[in-house]
Amino acid sequence: MIVVTGATGSIGRALIERLRGHDVLAVVRRPADDLDYDHAIADFDEPATIGRLLSPGDRLFLNSSLWPGFVRAHRAVIDLAARAGVAQVVAVSVRDATPGAKLGGGMHGEVDAHLRASGVPWSILQPSGFMQNLPRDVRDGHFYGSYGPKEVNYIDARDIAEVAAALLTRPVGPDADHVLTGPESLSHAEIAGEISAALGRPVRYVDLPVPEMAAHLERQGIPQPHAADLAELMASTGDGRWASTTSAVEDLTGRPPRPLAAFLRDHKADFPR
Ligand SMILES: NC(=O)c1ccc[n+]([C@@H]2O[C@H](COP(=O)([O-])OP(=O)(O)OC[C@H]3O[C@@H](n4cnc5c(N)ncnc54)[C@H](OP(=O)(O)O)[C@@H]3O)[C@@H](O)[C@H]2O)c1
Repeated sequence: MIVVTGATGSIGRALIERLRGHDVLAVVRRPADDLDYDHAIADFDEPATIGRLLSPGDRLFLNSSLWPGFVRAHRAVIDLAARAGVAQVVAVSVRDATPGAKLGGGMHGEVDAHLRASGVPWSILQPSGFMQNLPRDVRDGHFYGSYGPKEVNYIDARDIAEVAAALLTRPVGPDADHVLTGPESLSHAEIAGEISAALGRPVRYVDLPVPEMAAHLERQGIPQPHAADLAELMASTGDGRWASTTSAVEDLTGRPPRPLAAFLRDHKADFPR
């Protein structure tokens, strides 16, 4: 059986669709009327609720959004997967994950290290930022950030799902990290230009110095110190380190990743008016 955690998320929903026809169990933390496939209620905050769903030979897709208990919970689920005799864990991490790094990069770095040492066969997906974030970042025709003028890569979460589906349905291969990117990297001014063209109304990228961006995020309800860390993270991913692309999506799925234009065509309605 393929056990999919985070099944209601941007990767999880697309993954479940691609796995139709396979023996799949979707893990959700609350009943969801719009899920028309086998699902079980479980919560990472109580790792045993996920552990009890796992049987020898299962394949586990390990994914959830981040919260302060993320590292403890994901490590515990990995230990339970090892104990249950799971055949493979495919985990979602982030590009440049490293223990000790700020925010998600540090949390994922710790979980990735734990998984690599767990004894369970593993694949770790390390994607760039998701295109699915973009609608949330556009407000009143403006798109604020501290990325500067350089190019940054974004990936469509549907391509992460395609990679996960390929890895979870073929024979278990060698343990590997996969750095997943979209096909092109653009500056945020260029991204705003593409959004404007797709929506048919102007959207302008406004680049703010890190302290001003941190204050902007705080006004939007993100507490300190996360607001400052997030603004710093934008500036660091904007220094060119997330500009390169990889061939991993095409190598693993046989088709190239979706360009931003395709994402925008399919997600126009997600952008606020
Ligand atoms: N967003 C990005 O740009 C980006 C970039 C690189 C890597 N990543 C990584 O990708 C992963 C997914 O990120 P996301 O924020 O975009 O996810 P998402 O699509 O919002 O989905 C997250 C999923 O996790 C589930 N979940 C959260 N807490 C849970 C818990 N305690 N127990 C069970 N399920 C739980 C959510 O369920 P509910 O529907 O119940 O909330 C949802 O199904 C994260 O690890 C993130 O660090 C994200």
